[in-house]
Amino acid sequence: MRQALIAPSLLSADFARLGDELRDVIAAGADWIHFDVMDNHYVPNLTFGPMVCHALRRHAARADGGRVPIDVHLMVQPVDALAQAFADAGADSISFHPAASLHVDRTLQLIKAAGCKAGLVFNPAASLDVLEWELDSLDFVLVMSVNPGFGGQRFIPGALRKIERVRKLIDASGRDIRLEVDGGINAETIRAAYDAGADTFVAGSAIFGQKDYQAAIAALRTAITR
Ligand code: DX5
Ligand code: ZN
Repeated sequence: MRQALIAPSLLSADFARLGDELRDVIAAGADWIHFDVMDNHYVPNLTFGPMVCHALRRHAARADGGRVPIDVHLMVQPVDALAQAFADAGADSISFHPAASLHVDRTLQLIKAAGCKAGLVFNPAASLDVLEWELDSLDFVLVMSVNPGFGGQRFIPGALRKIERVRKLIDASGRDIRLEVDGGINAETIRAAYDAGADTFVAGSAIFGQKDYQAAIAALRTAITR
Protein backbone atom coordinates (compact mmCIF):
# COMPACT_ATOMS: atom_id res chain seq x y z
CA MET A 1 0.00 0.00 0.00
CA ARG A 2 1.19 3.48 -0.89
CA GLN A 3 2.10 5.50 2.22
CA ALA A 4 -0.36 8.40 2.45
CA LEU A 5 0.84 11.74 3.78
CA ILE A 6 -1.55 14.39 5.09
CA ALA A 7 -0.55 18.02 4.51
CA PRO A 8 -2.80 20.50 6.34
CA SER A 9 -3.00 23.84 4.54
CA LEU A 10 -2.47 26.85 6.78
CA LEU A 11 -4.70 28.84 4.42
CA SER A 12 -7.68 27.74 6.52
CA ALA A 13 -5.95 28.29 9.88
CA ASP A 14 -6.63 31.23 12.20
CA PHE A 15 -4.17 33.83 10.85
CA ALA A 16 -4.17 35.66 14.18
CA ARG A 17 -2.72 32.53 15.87
CA LEU A 18 -0.58 30.92 13.17
CA GLY A 19 2.18 29.63 15.48
CA ASP A 20 -0.35 27.93 17.80
CA GLU A 21 -2.27 26.52 14.84
CA LEU A 22 0.93 25.07 13.40
CA ARG A 23 1.91 23.42 16.68
CA ASP A 24 -1.61 22.06 17.20
CA VAL A 25 -1.88 20.53 13.77
CA ILE A 26 1.58 18.96 14.10
CA ALA A 27 0.59 17.46 17.46
CA ALA A 28 -2.54 16.17 15.71
CA GLY A 29 -0.45 14.18 13.24
CA ALA A 30 0.33 16.40 10.22
CA ASP A 31 2.98 14.86 7.93
CA TRP A 32 3.75 18.02 5.96
CA ILE A 33 2.62 21.63 6.40
CA HIS A 34 1.22 23.14 3.21
CA PHE A 35 1.89 26.87 2.86
CA ASP A 36 -0.18 28.62 0.16
CA VAL A 37 1.50 31.72 -1.21
CA MET A 38 -0.82 34.00 -3.23
CA ASP A 39 0.18 37.29 -4.80
CA ASN A 40 -3.07 38.92 -5.99
CA HIS A 41 -1.68 38.70 -9.52
CA TYR A 42 -1.35 35.05 -10.54
CA VAL A 43 -4.41 34.37 -8.35
CA PRO A 44 -7.00 36.86 -7.04
CA ASN A 45 -6.04 36.53 -3.39
CA LEU A 46 -3.17 37.59 -1.13
CA THR A 47 -1.73 35.54 1.73
CA PHE A 48 1.72 35.44 3.30
CA GLY A 49 5.36 35.83 2.29
CA PRO A 50 8.81 34.51 3.18
CA MET A 51 9.02 36.42 6.47
CA VAL A 52 5.97 34.61 7.79
CA CYS A 53 7.43 31.28 6.64
CA HIS A 54 10.68 32.10 8.42
CA ALA A 55 8.86 33.06 11.62
CA LEU A 56 6.84 29.83 11.58
CA ARG A 57 9.75 27.53 10.86
CA ARG A 58 10.82 27.22 14.49
CA HIS A 59 7.27 26.10 15.39
CA ALA A 60 7.50 23.16 12.97
CA ALA A 61 9.30 20.89 15.46
CA ARG A 62 7.82 17.50 16.33
CA ALA A 63 7.72 16.14 19.89
CA ASP A 64 10.32 13.48 18.94
CA GLY A 65 12.80 16.21 17.96
CA GLY A 66 12.17 15.87 14.23
CA ARG A 67 10.78 18.60 12.03
CA VAL A 68 7.67 18.63 9.87
CA PRO A 69 8.56 19.68 6.30
CA ILE A 70 7.16 23.01 5.12
CA ASP A 71 5.67 22.57 1.65
CA VAL A 72 5.47 25.94 -0.11
CA HIS A 73 2.92 26.17 -2.93
CA LEU A 74 3.71 29.29 -4.94
CA MET A 75 0.74 30.87 -6.72
CA VAL A 76 2.81 33.85 -7.81
CA GLN A 77 4.16 35.36 -11.00
CA PRO A 78 7.05 35.79 -11.63
CA VAL A 79 8.40 32.85 -9.62
CA ASP A 80 12.20 32.87 -9.35
CA ALA A 81 12.92 35.61 -6.80
CA LEU A 82 10.22 34.39 -4.43
CA ALA A 83 11.28 30.76 -4.80
CA GLN A 84 14.77 31.77 -3.70
CA ALA A 85 13.38 33.86 -0.85
CA PHE A 86 11.30 30.94 0.44
CA ALA A 87 14.26 28.58 0.21
CA ASP A 88 16.23 31.10 2.30
CA ALA A 89 13.27 31.31 4.71
CA GLY A 90 13.42 27.58 5.46
CA ALA A 91 11.02 25.94 3.00
CA ASP A 92 11.63 22.21 2.53
CA SER A 93 9.75 21.82 -0.75
CA ILE A 94 8.65 24.43 -3.27
CA SER A 95 6.20 24.02 -6.12
CA PHE A 96 5.01 26.46 -8.79
CA HIS A 97 2.69 26.60 -11.77
CA PRO A 98 4.54 26.15 -15.11
CA ALA A 99 2.52 28.95 -16.76
CA ALA A 100 3.81 31.38 -14.12
CA SER A 101 7.48 30.94 -15.06
CA LEU A 102 9.04 31.93 -18.38
CA HIS A 103 11.79 29.34 -17.97
CA VAL A 104 10.39 26.38 -16.11
CA ASP A 105 13.54 24.29 -16.14
CA ARG A 106 15.64 27.17 -14.86
CA THR A 107 13.22 27.72 -11.99
CA LEU A 108 13.32 24.01 -11.06
CA GLN A 109 17.11 24.03 -11.06
CA LEU A 110 17.12 27.16 -8.91
CA ILE A 111 14.86 25.49 -6.31
CA LYS A 112 17.03 22.37 -6.19
CA ALA A 113 20.28 24.33 -6.05
CA ALA A 114 18.82 26.13 -3.03
CA GLY A 115 18.49 22.74 -1.29
CA CYS A 116 14.71 22.25 -1.59
CA LYS A 117 12.59 19.56 -3.18
CA ALA A 118 11.05 20.83 -6.41
CA GLY A 119 7.52 20.31 -7.73
CA LEU A 120 5.27 21.44 -10.57
CA VAL A 121 1.59 22.25 -10.07
CA PHE A 122 -1.12 21.59 -12.65
CA ASN A 123 -4.37 23.56 -12.68
CA PRO A 124 -7.60 21.79 -13.67
CA ALA A 125 -7.27 22.91 -17.32
CA ALA A 126 -3.47 22.68 -17.56
CA SER A 127 -1.88 20.19 -19.92
CA LEU A 128 0.70 17.74 -18.58
CA ASP A 129 2.98 18.11 -21.63
CA VAL A 130 5.83 19.64 -19.66
CA LEU A 131 6.17 16.39 -17.67
CA GLU A 132 7.52 14.69 -20.77
CA TRP A 133 10.57 16.93 -20.46
CA GLU A 134 10.83 17.66 -16.75
CA LEU A 135 9.78 14.52 -14.86
CA ASP A 136 13.42 13.65 -14.21
CA SER A 137 13.93 17.01 -12.49
CA LEU A 138 10.98 16.66 -10.14
CA ASP A 139 10.63 15.44 -6.56
CA PHE A 140 6.85 15.77 -6.63
CA VAL A 141 3.90 16.65 -8.83
CA LEU A 142 0.91 18.58 -7.46
CA VAL A 143 -2.46 18.16 -9.16
CA MET A 144 -5.00 20.89 -8.39
CA SER A 145 -8.51 19.59 -7.81
CA VAL A 146 -9.91 23.14 -7.56
CA ASN A 147 -8.96 26.38 -9.28
CA PRO A 148 -6.23 27.98 -7.17
CA GLY A 149 -6.90 31.04 -5.04
CA PHE A 150 -9.27 30.02 -2.27
CA GLY A 151 -9.87 27.34 0.32
CA GLY A 152 -13.19 25.62 0.87
CA GLN A 153 -14.06 24.89 -2.78
CA ARG A 154 -15.58 21.68 -4.11
CA PHE A 155 -13.39 18.90 -5.47
CA ILE A 156 -13.43 18.84 -9.31
CA PRO A 157 -13.94 15.17 -10.31
CA GLY A 158 -12.02 15.61 -13.60
CA ALA A 159 -8.85 15.86 -11.49
CA LEU A 160 -9.06 12.10 -10.95
CA ARG A 161 -8.25 11.37 -14.60
CA LYS A 162 -5.30 13.70 -14.38
CA ILE A 163 -4.03 11.98 -11.23
CA GLU A 164 -4.32 8.61 -12.98
CA ARG A 165 -2.31 9.89 -15.91
CA VAL A 166 0.42 11.38 -13.69
CA ARG A 167 0.59 8.14 -11.67
CA LYS A 168 1.27 6.19 -14.89
CA LEU A 169 4.04 8.61 -15.90
CA ILE A 170 5.65 8.43 -12.45
CA ASP A 171 5.51 4.64 -12.32
CA ALA A 172 6.96 4.38 -15.84
CA SER A 173 9.83 6.67 -14.81
CA GLY A 174 10.76 4.37 -11.91
CA ARG A 175 11.70 7.46 -9.92
CA ASP A 176 10.70 8.30 -6.37
CA ILE A 177 8.26 11.15 -7.07
CA ARG A 178 5.35 11.98 -4.78
CA LEU A 179 1.93 12.76 -6.24
CA GLU A 180 0.17 15.45 -4.24
CA VAL A 181 -3.44 16.55 -4.68
CA ASP A 182 -4.77 19.92 -3.51
CA GLY A 183 -8.32 21.27 -3.23
CA GLY A 184 -11.60 19.99 -1.86
CA ILE A 185 -10.00 17.01 -0.11
CA ASN A 186 -12.15 15.70 2.74
CA ALA A 187 -13.24 12.34 4.15
CA GLU A 188 -15.64 11.91 1.20
CA THR A 189 -13.22 12.75 -1.65
CA ILE A 190 -9.85 11.51 -0.40
CA ARG A 191 -10.45 7.84 -1.20
CA ALA A 192 -11.10 8.44 -4.90
CA ALA A 193 -7.94 10.58 -5.12
CA TYR A 194 -5.94 7.83 -3.41
CA ASP A 195 -7.37 5.15 -5.68
CA ALA A 196 -6.49 7.28 -8.72
CA GLY A 197 -2.87 7.30 -7.57
CA ALA A 198 -2.29 10.26 -5.24
CA ASP A 199 -0.12 9.72 -2.14
CA THR A 200 0.04 13.17 -0.52
CA PHE A 201 -3.14 15.03 0.43
CA VAL A 202 -3.49 18.74 1.09
CA ALA A 203 -6.48 19.57 3.26
CA GLY A 204 -7.36 23.03 4.53
CA SER A 205 -10.99 23.45 5.52
CA ALA A 206 -11.46 19.72 6.20
CA ILE A 207 -8.94 20.02 9.05
CA PHE A 208 -8.96 23.62 10.29
CA GLY A 209 -12.74 23.81 9.91
CA GLN A 210 -13.09 21.14 12.62
CA LYS A 211 -12.69 21.57 16.36
CA ASP A 212 -10.62 18.42 16.83
CA TYR A 213 -7.68 18.40 14.40
CA GLN A 214 -6.54 14.96 15.48
CA ALA A 215 -9.96 13.48 14.75
CA ALA A 216 -10.09 15.31 11.41
CA ILE A 217 -6.70 13.94 10.30
CA ALA A 218 -7.60 10.47 11.58
CA ALA A 219 -10.86 10.59 9.59
CA LEU A 220 -8.88 11.32 6.41
CA ARG A 221 -6.52 8.39 7.05
CA THR A 222 -9.41 6.06 7.88
CA ALA A 223 -11.25 7.02 4.68
CA ILE A 224 -8.23 5.79 2.71
CA THR A 225 -7.80 2.48 4.50
CA ARG A 226 -11.38 1.37 5.09
C1 DX5 B 1 -6.07 26.67 -3.08
C2 DX5 B 1 -4.94 26.15 -2.24
C3 DX5 B 1 -5.26 25.00 -1.36
C4 DX5 B 1 -6.32 25.27 -0.32
C5 DX5 B 1 -7.08 24.01 -0.13
O1 DX5 B 1 -5.56 27.58 -4.00
O2 DX5 B 1 -3.86 25.75 -3.08
O3 DX5 B 1 -4.09 24.48 -0.74
O4 DX5 B 1 -5.82 25.64 0.93
O5 DX5 B 1 -8.15 24.25 0.73
P1 DX5 B 1 -9.32 23.20 0.88
O6 DX5 B 1 -8.70 21.95 1.42
O7 DX5 B 1 -10.25 23.86 1.82
O8 DX5 B 1 -9.89 22.99 -0.50
ZN1 ZN C 1 -2.12 24.74 -2.12
